[in-house]
Amino acid sequence: MGWQDYLDTNQTRFEQELLDFVAIPSVSAKPDHMGDVERAAEWVAARLRKAGIENTAVLPTTGHPAVYGDWLHAGPDKPTVLIYGHFDVQPAEPFDLWHSPPFQPEIREGRVWGRGASDDKGGMFIPILAAEALLATTGRLPVNVKFLFEGQEEIGSPDMPPFIEAEARRLSCDMIFSADGLQWTANEAQLVMGLKGLVGVELIVEGAQADQHSGLHGGGINNPLMALSQILASMKDAQTGRITIDGFYDDVVELTVEDKQEIARVPFDEAEYCAELGVPEAFGEAGYTVRERLWARPTLELNGLTGGYQGAGSKTVLPARASAKITCRLVANQRPERIAELIAAHVAAHTPPGVTARIEHLAGDADPFLVPRGHNATQAAGEVLREVYGAAPYITRVGGSIPIMTLFLRALGVHGVMFGFSIADENLHAPNEFFRLENFRRGQTAYCRLLERLGR
Ligand code: BES
Ligand code: MN
Ligand code: MN
Repeated sequence: MGWQDYLDTNQTRFEQELLDFVAIPSVSAKPDHMGDVERAAEWVAARLRKAGIENTAVLPTTGHPAVYGDWLHAGPDKPTVLIYGHFDVQPAEPFDLWHSPPFQPEIREGRVWGRGASDDKGGMFIPILAAEALLATTGRLPVNVKFLFEGQEEIGSPDMPPFIEAEARRLSCDMIFSADGLQWTANEAQLVMGLKGLVGVELIVEGAQADQHSGLHGGGINNPLMALSQILASMKDAQTGRITIDGFYDDVVELTVEDKQEIARVPFDEAEYCAELGVPEAFGEAGYTVRERLWARPTLELNGLTGGYQGAGSKTVLPARASAKITCRLVANQRPERIAELIAAHVAAHTPPGVTARIEHLAGDADPFLVPRGHNATQAAGEVLREVYGAAPYITRVGGSIPIMTLFLRALGVHGVMFGFSIADENLHAPNEFFRLENFRRGQTAYCRLLERLGR
């Protein structure tokens, strides 16, 4: 039996196993799910072992664990390939919007529905199954393979920098493929050439030592909620969408004519985009196309705002405190640390009288990531995608971030290639996340072909 027959014959079992995997609520953000992240790690290690992968281990970090496994018998003349994915998931709230419970996954309409089905449990299971099929039918793998799966991607991989540094020897490799990644549509492939970086801060504004009666003290002292709004409003031009923080764009590498052409070659229907999202029109930095802004320009977004009274009716209160959560998506060559400093300086310069404001730099920094043109592993991935999809992949970038990609680059000197089979419409991070079973299968075939192609 060839590996494709093996995959076909075992597909029902693989689907059941994926349901078991998704049923583990490995929410990395929530302290009370720590044990579940650990359980998911144990599940992955056991599943690697069952596939025939050796040296499997749940590796501790200073936070959620990682899982390693390898098969290194292809010979020294064959490349060593590191395959990456993550087994932690985003919180499933709001629960009441799910049509079936997020951690009681089910199959409907040829899709697995559940939190993490698409991001990234379905995706990271794919290369494990490809390895199993190759080992079961040929007794070997065409290249040396190392697997590294992490349990903290969705919180920004806070403990992974020292871990990757410390494990650099174990992880040494010639190529890296990320099983956390997207294809273009259900039937069209893409090669993702760039990810954005990320930096998050919380801005806290404080006034009086406690909430006050707004009639007794309104007009006498400043209002932290109003001051916060004023500071925030000063960060972005309401008409042009330009970020007005001094120095924010200083390190941004301008798009070349070639970059712009490459981006413009990918079809984009702005009216359809707006209709899909239910917005009256697009909005963002003037002077760039929507696609350029989504893929290759930095952004500053407000993610949450608190302060004062949020209950029914009105309350005449002058709040003592107000705060905002802000994240910026970054592009080459912006650095998270530097952008956090620039935001702090901007806040200091724009804080109205009568309140104090401070910035807390949140965990989860990610550097922007760009794959160099002509990169060999990317080329191989592109050829395999062309075979499997019957057409050349689109050349794209995404606005999302995967912090570990630049950690790999720094510690191992290797550029990762996105080789994942989720689709952007699969409600990642949202209620009713799902993963298409046709792409679960197609991904397995693609990984088998990729490993064979790399071993030739
Ligand atoms: N898989 C995503 C990243 C992604 C999204 C890649 C879309 C390609 C296209 C990943 O799991 C993710 O959600 N990353 C977070 C990182 C953050 C928590 C540091 C993100 O981008 O918000
Ligand atoms: Mn992911
Ligand atoms: Mn995610």
